[in-house]
Amino acid sequence: MPRHAWDFSDPVLTYSPAGARAFAQLARAQVARGVYSAETRLFQAISPQLMAQLPHQFTLIDLGPGIATNSGIILQAACAAQKLVRYVPVDCSRLFLNCAARIARRLGVPCHPIHSTFEAVAQDRILNRDRSARLVLLGLTYTNFWPDRIHPIIKAIMGPRGATLVSAQPRERVNISKVRRLYESRTNRVLLHAKLHALGLSPGDIASWTFTDEIRVYVTLRCVTKALARLGLRPGDRLLFNQSLRHPLSALRRQWLRDFHLTLFDHGGECVAALLRPRHYIQRHFNLQ
Ligand SMILES: C[S@@+](CC[C@H](N)C(=O)[O-])C[C@H]1O[C@@H](n2cnc3c(N)ncnc32)[C@H](O)[C@@H]1O
Repeated sequence: MPRHAWDFSDPVLTYSPAGARAFAQLARAQVARGVYSAETRLFQAISPQLMAQLPHQFTLIDLGPGIATNSGIILQAACAAQKLVRYVPVDCSRLFLNCAARIARRLGVPCHPIHSTFEAVAQDRILNRDRSARLVLLGLTYTNFWPDRIHPIIKAIMGPRGATLVSAQPRERVNISKVRRLYESRTNRVLLHAKLHALGLSPGDIASWTFTDEIRVYVTLRCVTKALARLGLRPGDRLLFNQSLRHPLSALRRQWLRDFHLTLFDHGGECVAALLRPRHYIQRHFNLQ
């Protein structure tokens, strides 16, 4: 990150009610066209193998279900494997919690939505006292965070017997300039503008946009609101506005192995998934290799 850039990349700022509606519209249009992401296809392929690694009874804590396409795949696989699953979607957006609840109802799975940020749930004492086995699902939302920021959060949420499924698009597996153009596209601008509005800004308040090959979006402010000025921001300041990090697979592996026990699901495609567990996870709860 360039020096003096303020970090406003937290995805929670993207999913204001207007941002969530815009995201849901884009995601639903894709599903209606039968366009499934590489992540969705990978989840479909690995879910039976994933279920074989989970205990008979577990809680699925879904961090950010979105329109719940991927959550539906995991829940369906749990039902097919006759697991006793309790579903806990966590989201800052009620719209997405409703999507998650609908899918759970359709599958007859008990659902206990939590309207909250991931950060607040990680500090929740009630959750921390619950000793049930957990599968935490974060998926590609993982790439919106710096690993040092999100790893402690998922560690706290999965607890000592849990596992977390994250996914990523390794840098060398994707056409980076194509991904960058997607972020620059008119379609994605709808989401970026919704985030500007959530901060009290409009596109006219932005002097310039920068889209990098690391898949980071920076904005330089032409003017600031009173609230931003109180934080110390001034016209001309640069904000890290959004990120969807594409690290090389070697770097991802290093970050994962540094903090977790890793099971990697890699079918050679543009998306990989990683099942992360506490280093000293309790063997009897996950019948593992
Ligand atoms: C990119 S969408 C991912 C959707 C879904 N996981 C999928 O696979 O399509 C990100 C989701 O995470 C939620 N979200 C992002 N950051 C959050 C945070 N810090 N706390 C709570 N919800 C968050 C958003 O509201 C949204 O539902």
